[in-house]
Amino acid sequence: MTHDDVLVLGGTGFLGRHLLPRLAARGLRITVPTRRPYTARELLVLPRLRLVPARVHDPAVLADLMPPGGTVIHLIGILSEGRGPHAGFDAVHVELTRRVLEAAGRAGVRRYLHVSALGAGRADPPSRYLASKRAAEEAVRAGAIPWTIFRPAVVAGPDGGAALLFARLVRLLPILPLAGASSRLAPVAVGDVARALLAALDDPCTVGRTYELCGPEETTLAGFVHAVARGLGRTVRVLPLPDAVARLEAAVLERLPGRLLTRDQLRSLRVPGLSDGEGLAALGLVPTPFEAALEGLAGARAGTRVPAGS
Ligand SMILES: NC(=O)c1ccc[n+]([C@@H]2O[C@H](COP(=O)([O-])OP(=O)(O)OC[C@H]3O[C@@H](n4cnc5c(N)ncnc54)[C@H](OP(=O)(O)O)[C@@H]3O)[C@@H](O)[C@H]2O)c1
Repeated sequence: MTHDDVLVLGGTGFLGRHLLPRLAARGLRITVPTRRPYTARELLVLPRLRLVPARVHDPAVLADLMPPGGTVIHLIGILSEGRGPHAGFDAVHVELTRRVLEAAGRAGVRRYLHVSALGAGRADPPSRYLASKRAAEEAVRAGAIPWTIFRPAVVAGPDGGAALLFARLVRLLPILPLAGASSRLAPVAVGDVARALLAALDDPCTVGRTYELCGPEETTLAGFVHAVARGLGRTVRVLPLPDAVARLEAAVLERLPGRLLTRDQLRSLRVPGLSDGEGLAALGLVPTPFEAALEGLAGARAGTRVPAGS
């Protein structure tokens, strides 16, 4: 293996699908482990990409995946906890990151990029999600491999993440009861996050730095939903839920399959999804306007296409 080798953990997800074509366009040799290769077969159109069925929580499996002298990009993350041994915040964010760093160190990996989340820098994270993202960052900083950490705000794109979730709801419901409706956020375009990761690969000055990645406009969660509705050519009435009702709703929804909303997510929403930092600008990038980031929403479904690698 050489400097051309990149291991992308979580490459099958929303952000990964926007990053992989850009890595492929550089001629890099890419390995993407996945628990569910049948859901990601369209990635195989990319040159020099290997999709590997793998249980990445197993240290021996991780050791086999590592690219000596190459790069590891760690995108695996969850918004809510599932059932089973490798589905909790500590297991997925903290323990897995430690295992990845250990295996990468042993294999002689040259460079490590880590995707965290906005709010993880707070000394007193209000949610278990943010606390686990923070603990993972601490493990990265303590590691010996030259690292860069990214903390995206809510990531906006037509084919995944919060926009796709709200698009489904807006199609179903003319009136949308919304928890945390007035939460403030500055959504960042998924393509901009992918570009930020590439910029860090190109610039050794980014080693040892943490970049908060926000979009150019501030909105609220209700504003986000209205923008999604506009992107679909629809209108929606947002019904802001009082906190107590939202907590009750979350307590019910977190017990149902799909876990549409959890009380931990409500606690995360208390942290404004904004940043004083100019992460994208510091990386030489001009942030994409929010509504432009949602272009193509009306015809999009999760993971149905591989975006162009520009
Ligand atoms: N989307 C956002 O708005 C947002 C905002 C801030 C930060 N982030 C962070 O950005 C990163 C990428 O987010 P994303 O939206 O691309 O996530 P995503 O679409 O949910 O994809 C995450 C990938 O991680 C893998 N994964 C999930 N749970 C796993 C588990 N228990 N064990 C092993 N692998 C698992 C999955 O791969 P397989 O199913 O193929 O195995 C999945 O494709 C995450 O760290 C996330 O926390 C995202």
